Amino acid sequence: MRYKETYNRSINQPVEFWKEQSSKIKWFKEPQEILHRDGKFYEWFRDGELNSCYLALDYHIEQGRGETVALIYDSPVTNSIERFTYKEMLELVSGFAAELKALGLEKGDTAVIYMPMIPEAIISMLACARIGVVHSVVFGGFAPAELAIRIDDAKPKVIITANYGIEIGKRIPYLGLVENAIDIANHKVDKLVIKYRNNDRTETIKGALDMDILLATEKRTAPEIMKGNDPLYILYTSGTTGAPKGILRDNGGHATALKYSMDAIYNTRAGEVFWAASDIGWVVGHSYIVYGPLFQGCTTVLYEGKPIKTPDAGAFWRVVQDHKVKTLFTAPTAIRAIEKTDPQAELMKKYDLSSLEALFLAGERCDPPTLKWISSHLNKPVIDHWWQTESGWPMVANPTGIEAHPVKPGSSGVPVCGYDIRVIDESGQELPANTEGNIVIKMPLPPGCLQTLWQDEKRYLESYLNQFDGYFISGDGGYIDEDGYVFIMGRIDDVINVAGHRLSTGVMEEVISAHESVAECAVFAIEDQLKGHVPCGLVVLNKEAAENEAELQKALIAEIRGKIGPIACLSEVKVAKRLPKTRSGKIVRKLLAAIRDGRTYRIPGTIENPEVVDEIKDLYSV
Ligand code: COA
Ligand code: AMP
Repeated sequence: MRYKETYNRSINQPVEFWKEQSSKIKWFKEPQEILHRDGKFYEWFRDGELNSCYLALDYHIEQGRGETVALIYDSPVTNSIERFTYKEMLELVSGFAAELKALGLEKGDTAVIYMPMIPEAIISMLACARIGVVHSVVFGGFAPAELAIRIDDAKPKVIITANYGIEIGKRIPYLGLVENAIDIANHKVDKLVIKYRNNDRTETIKGALDMDILLATEKRTAPEIMKGNDPLYILYTSGTTGAPKGILRDNGGHATALKYSMDAIYNTRAGEVFWAASDIGWVVGHSYIVYGPLFQGCTTVLYEGKPIKTPDAGAFWRVVQDHKVKTLFTAPTAIRAIEKTDPQAELMKKYDLSSLEALFLAGERCDPPTLKWISSHLNKPVIDHWWQTESGWPMVANPTGIEAHPVKPGSSGVPVCGYDIRVIDESGQELPANTEGNIVIKMPLPPGCLQTLWQDEKRYLESYLNQFDGYFISGDGGYIDEDGYVFIMGRIDDVINVAGHRLSTGVMEEVISAHESVAECAVFAIEDQLKGHVPCGLVVLNKEAAENEAELQKALIAEIRGKIGPIACLSEVKVAKRLPKTRSGKIVRKLLAAIRDGRTYRIPGTIENPEVVDEIKDLYSV
């Protein structure tokens, strides 16, 4: 069936459509109730029974794919490549799961996984899924305070970590960070498991268990029977302010949606090689390094390296050639890094890329110059697609598995089946084609998307559903053109995107405001050639503060790094006399960003002190 027909059916007959898709995964007991509604809350497949680890591993062995490689760990930073068949993965996962059970972990408990890009991270995720323990992976680039916030919210029984991660040219010791986080957190964790990389046990934490010993176990455990709506994982993502939001993923909707996406969007089948060059700490890593490709019986690549400098800008092309990657998925920032280092794509020419069928990009808006550069050198379809932690899988894409669409630069494609995407203004009125507004999705969201937040239904409603009745607000602005292509133009809230990493300016403002010399501040995103955007700060000093501006900038950059993590990349801090605000006291961050970037701007009529705008302009024209 062609796209239009399929899409219309998914919107007009969602229950029939998703029942059919759910039959493509193996349930222990097929769901009878496909979609359940309770007021504003929806649940997919709540009475079905399944297990996500079984679907990712055991099922393929039953289908005769036991000797197929499930995982290729390619690590230029340790100069190693390891392969694990489905059978080998199952042995490791089932053994580790049995040991976690023996430690007292039970269905419904939680586990935090704070690990670099090593196979043990995936083994840990799948082991949790096997025994019904809800995992919460925390990205390694977050500082102890951020890890502690997640520990306090998820209340894990166990933390699984490693002794170190490796970034370009340096080791990142994890254990000090973990100890620090455990000290800060109020919640007390029962158990700590450490993977000692390189067999290096010189540093440890008292009472910690050795993951290698647990992995060597003879024990095995069967997959736990999970209901369709039982939680699989929590993944924290930045909100506008305050604590991160714990996006909750179920088992049944997630498995159905990811399986569907592997066919309809990525057009990648069992036995083919799928590589998402992301990190397991992000949703892309959860969905397309771990669960999606394994649900589909593909070979997935876990790459511990960067697009450049490990060792050079040919790294991605080397991996594609060596592992015969069919589908590659990365963020535009990675392509910009490659372009900057190898503008003529000379290194690309050294490799045989005949296995590659398409390159998918997401994580931030793919700017047309980057799209043009990579398309012209790669000579393969380059497909931008839009999604977020909340959705867990693409909402707008080019459905290559149903009907490939011509690419329109600047657009991330057409709505994916199941997503009824609309553009509305502040009063909730639907806008005509080519008119920019709030991108919203008519409820219900399809399977796979969050249906609530971890133990916080109130915040779920307030953050996503209360603003426009019957619609999920995505937080992004954009428009739909006359051909139905969606153009995502950027966040409408105070969330920013730095090198494909989603960060909250509100949280950065909390850190900066805590400095003794700072009376108030604003953090906003400014354009950056490599990372898309980087945060920049403007502070108003306390009356008695006598700060040297350069020293203050250094101190605040260090504070952000120490409290949020190195990935925050605060780029500059300037001192202003006052900040422009609306009559209701809101700082107009978008206006500040436009002034700082030298773009044209319009002073909103709601500004209480328009004269401040000139002061800020002068500040940046120096
Ligand atoms: N653990 C610890 N530290 C980390 C980390 C991790 N997992 N990931 C990044 N960092 C650190 C880096 O070492 C760096 O520290 P430094 O300031 O001391 O050098 C800092 O965080 C910033 O890292 P990054 O944003 O990665 O910038 P970079 O300049 O090192 O590299 C790119 C630039 C473009 C190569 C890199 O950002 C990249 O590969 N981006 C792709 C992003 C991506 O895949 N996003 C997923 C969404 S699909
Ligand atoms: P995250 O939840 O970390 O995946 O970040 C989601 C946010 O990244 C979205 O709300 C968008 O602002 C942005 N984003 C992701 N993919 C795209 C894309 N293809 N085009 C534009 N913005 C994107």
